[in-house]
Amino acid sequence: MNILIIGGAGYIGSHVTREFLDRGHGCTVFDNLSSGLRENLFSEAKFIHGDINDYMQILGAMKDSAAPFDAIVHLAAFKAAGESMLNPAKYSKNNIAGTINILNAACETGINNIVFSSSAAVYGEPQYIPIDEKHPTLPENYYGFTKLEIERLLSWYDKLKNIRYASLRYFNAAGYDVKGRLKGLEQNPANLLPVIMETACGMRKEMQIFGNDYDTKDGTCIRDYVHVNDLAVGHAMALDYIIKNKKSLTVNLGSEQGFSVTEVLETARTVTGQPIPAKITGRREGDPAKLTASCALSHELLGWKAQHSDLETLIKTSWEVYKK
Ligand code: UFG
Repeated sequence: MNILIIGGAGYIGSHVTREFLDRGHGCTVFDNLSSGLRENLFSEAKFIHGDINDYMQILGAMKDSAAPFDAIVHLAAFKAAGESMLNPAKYSKNNIAGTINILNAACETGINNIVFSSSAAVYGEPQYIPIDEKHPTLPENYYGFTKLEIERLLSWYDKLKNIRYASLRYFNAAGYDVKGRLKGLEQNPANLLPVIMETACGMRKEMQIFGNDYDTKDGTCIRDYVHVNDLAVGHAMALDYIIKNKKSLTVNLGSEQGFSVTEVLETARTVTGQPIPAKITGRREGDPAKLTASCALSHELLGWKAQHSDLETLIKTSWEVYKK
């Protein structure tokens, strides 16, 4: 197939592009490089430097191919939950309005298969765990709201314009390519794994543990960390599903395991052999104590199951990149 990967130079996007290339598909990456990196691009994939906020640019990209595109994978979004609460306009414009441009350009050029990076952030504070797709969607931050709003747009475009979509609700994406082909470091990361790695390699003096008084086994928050190669495979399987079944899909992608901040940190100390200084500070606003996924539906519909999402692999593959 011929696939347009929007946001394909980013951390998750580059792993997704690698997976589609490995499966023999033709890939074009469209990215504005605001957080994506040139070093995440592959010579086998064509690159178009452009912005989804510019309708003519995204429309031009969709037309700019010898053979028409069979599908779009859309991963272009801002994703810092904290920032989204302070600067909602940035998230409205890029995440929501940018996606409207993608949808309208897709309709104009007749591309009707879309795989969309959604997020477990659409669920908000868990009412039960593990969280399945029937869990109420009540996002607690504006970032999560933008992802939910896009899911609603996709569902209308499905009804009205025959767009088939796969909405993939990622839990905590982590790790690096198990074959070591991707090495681009995320800029100013706020997520736990890259923060631990930056501390392990001396880019930060000390990290913070946001609260140890939660109602969990060791008092720190529990999350479901899913390896980025597993997420990438999920995209390929989801695209096959919507094309074969001519039916849209909304599924969780997670490891179905929960690890506390302390467990992640202790394993990182063992794997890296570094002290990784950490101090316990107050809770971070909006952090639920425990979040884990049920992936029964992605298993049933796609045959997908996380393969590389054990804590050791998540940390080892990250350390391979950061230690350099
Ligand atoms: N944490 C720390 N110190 C840090 C960073 C994080 O203690 O420096 C803790 C957090 O308090 C939390 C856990 O590590 O308990 C994980 O935090 P992350 O910031 O890595 O991830 P979140 O669970 O907050 O959110 C991530 C993505 C969201 C997505 C969500 C889905 O950033 O986009 O997973 O589960 F929606």
